[in-house]
Amino acid sequence: MPTETAKPKTRVAVLISGSGTNMASLIAAGQAADAPYEVVVVISNVADVAGLEKARAAGVEALTVEHKPFGKDREAHERVIDALLVERNVEVIALAGYMRLLTPWLVQKWAGRMVNIHPSLLPLYPGLNTHARAIEAGDAEAGCTVHVVTEGVDEGPALGQARVAILPGDDADTLAERVKAAEHALYPQTLAAFVARQGQAQP
Ligand code: GRF
Repeated sequence: MPTETAKPKTRVAVLISGSGTNMASLIAAGQAADAPYEVVVVISNVADVAGLEKARAAGVEALTVEHKPFGKDREAHERVIDALLVERNVEVIALAGYMRLLTPWLVQKWAGRMVNIHPSLLPLYPGLNTHARAIEAGDAEAGCTVHVVTEGVDEGPALGQARVAILPGDDADTLAERVKAAEHALYPQTLAAFVARQGQAQP
């Protein structure tokens, strides 16, 4: 029987600042034998966050590049991160609760190769406090969006969305929990489809 050589998995880096629950779901899905991507490194801009331990426990390299020593020079901080990604032959960046505004330099360098998950049904509620804003507005539904990262914050083209009901009595915390569960399903599936499409586009 002729055997097909398996296509190498797309090498993904996940950038985090905190608990890394989305990161963990990306890592787990990428470890399936037939996944089209694998998470090869996790980088946090905050030391000792729970996400770093979760990544290591899953066997993934986890590094900290604190932003504080760079003061206002955000690009210098990103250049250090970028060098680590290039050294590891990273092909796609997945932001997962990375709480830093990105410079045009990083966004342009990774244009079309960087995605983010945002806890709202974009274009509704870019920025912070999305759940409180959705409840305050009286919305019947909330959700999350995976999108390509462009220079405008939470503005890039959507790749996928998941919707959840806003229930009577919800506060921002109960709604966040319901949306998080949807995020953990949406992000790996959307990232897998994204990298698979990228693979097809190449000769
Ligand atoms: C998620 O709600 C995500 O949508 C937002 O930041 C949060 C990260 O949570 N961008 P976690 O660290 O993945 O638990």
